[in-house]
Amino acid sequence: MGLREAICDGLKAKRHPIYIFGEQGRGKSCAMGCLYVSYKETPAVPQWLSLDTFIQQIIKCRTSRDGRCEIPNPTGFGNSIWRSECDWFHIASGCPVLFVDDIGIKPPTDTGLEIAYKLFNQRLTKDKPTQQMTFLSSNLSPEQLNSIYGPRIVSRVCRGTVIRCGGEDRRLKNAKYHDLF
Ligand SMILES: Nc1ncnc2c1ncn2[C@@H]1O[C@H](COP(=O)(O)OP(=O)(O)OP(=O)(O)O)[C@@H](O)[C@H]1O
Ligand SMILES: [Mg+2]
Repeated sequence: MGLREAICDGLKAKRHPIYIFGEQGRGKSCAMGCLYVSYKETPAVPQWLSLDTFIQQIIKCRTSRDGRCEIPNPTGFGNSIWRSECDWFHIASGCPVLFVDDIGIKPPTDTGLEIAYKLFNQRLTKDKPTQQMTFLSSNLSPEQLNSIYGPRIVSRVCRGTVIRCGGEDRRLKNAKYHDLF
């Protein structure tokens, strides 16, 4: 079974969230990017975040004078946007489709762990599959995630469909090599 079939299987069976893990360059983010684009053509507006950037934005909000941080306008035009921690969590926990890329690329600090837990808890604890969909990607297997982020996070993140992406590093495979002498 390929990655596409495994994702479709999880979607059809409503086994949410979908946690895709594997080593670097296996095509996890590309697959999620394709899904993100396909959701953009539906009324369910998708949101994309990288876990580490999300954590940094929340820390910025907590340490800024007015509790907000500035982000570039997502449309690429016009004024930048100011968001508070509450705004961030409102978007991340309430949006119909959420993509969380690169879980666990850095060892988390205590604050990072607390923010990640808050995000996953707000987003993923509901018992019944709802209209919300969440896709997650990581280099960490559920066991590795457990040892770094703890069982409470794994219990929320890996409760739906878990897909291991094996194979070769596609970045290296796609590279052009010249063997000169
Ligand atoms: N289905 C595919 N067919 C061919 N090439 C692909 C495919 N998916 C991804 N690639 C290539 O592999 C590269 C790495 O893919 P991607 O960034 O999705 O990997 P990743 O698993 O997210 O890696 P990392 O864990 O390092 O973030 C892409 O830049 C793209 O060139
Ligand atoms: Mg990636």
